[in-house]
Amino acid sequence: LLPDPKNFRRLLLAWYKKNQRDLPWRKNTDPYRVLVSELMLQQTQVKTVLPYYSKFLTRFPNARALAAASQESVLASWAGLGYYRRARFLHAAAKAVAKQGFPQSAEGLLDLPGVGAYTAAAVGSISFGLPLAVVDGNVIRVLSRVLALDKDPTTGQGKRELDSAAQALLDPSHPGDFNQALMELGALICAQTKPRCEACPLAAHCLAFRGKTQESYPRLPTPVSTLKIHKSIALITKGANVLAMPRTLSGRAGDEGRMLGYWHFPELELKKGERPEAMAIHLAGENAKLKIRLASFLHSITRYRIKVDAYLFTSEKALKGWRWIGLRELHSKPLASAERRLLKALVAFGSKD
Ligand code: ADE
Repeated sequence: LLPDPKNFRRLLLAWYKKNQRDLPWRKNTDPYRVLVSELMLQQTQVKTVLPYYSKFLTRFPNARALAAASQESVLASWAGLGYYRRARFLHAAAKAVAKQGFPQSAEGLLDLPGVGAYTAAAVGSISFGLPLAVVDGNVIRVLSRVLALDKDPTTGQGKRELDSAAQALLDPSHPGDFNQALMELGALICAQTKPRCEACPLAAHCLAFRGKTQESYPRLPTPVSTLKIHKSIALITKGANVLAMPRTLSGRAGDEGRMLGYWHFPELELKKGERPEAMAIHLAGENAKLKIRLASFLHSITRYRIKVDAYLFTSEKALKGWRWIGLRELHSKPLASAERRLLKALVAFGSKD
């Protein structure tokens, strides 16, 4: 059922040599540069990562520089990329590397914070030539089609079959190029819809292509449904200052501190029937005067679809636990996308006033 590995490798690597994109993390195999790229690329598209990657490496060119940086500056460099736990893991990994050097074995890599099987295989193969097969979303798609794998490739038997096929096909003398070639093929040719099979070097080996069923693979489980949330936010100002603070753990069940350290404004999630304006007034407290609804937008992050209604208040008195911070200073703090958008709206409103 498995294609002949020698043939498969030869065709795939020849295609990669000719068609690979010129990406900044392919300039050399420095494990720090590769680790940063692989963490940024998890759940995130190449074109989104590119500007973050070059800025991050200019600011933190090696593990020592990153280890010595403040958490706040690391989070600020990640702001807008999403999945913020990655930034804290990367920072912790850099501290471990600065202390003990870069681990060069699979076990050592897996011991780094935030490094799982995927990242260990990617860094291990690309930087150290370790024969570890990478299985990410792109590889799952390519190999599910090549094998016409009728099981769910993300769990149980299907996952085991796919992992062992990837490992058997891997070119042990060029594991880094082989892994990147499969991912690149998934990104450039073997797309989720309308794959360009006529341009695919593996078409002759692809069982799904033979049966003209390529778009029915991989057999993924139905995606988790999205969750709708409506949030009311109070932007409480005093002159050019606004009340804000870095996020802490809420203590609520299920709060994993995903956005720990990112600055935010007083906010609450509306329950059914609650009106956003009334709840903003409640949040802001009796010392605050409502001015206007400053912003209203939809914000998508992971599986949440968040309607944000933000109201502008003035007040002389801080709410307990919240800090007055100048808009300019807040601009330099770690801010996730929604909060950055609100700060922009505040600044724009202030300059009209
Ligand atoms: N996606 C994640 N890492 C990648 C890499 N090194 N090459 C191509 N696509 C990727």
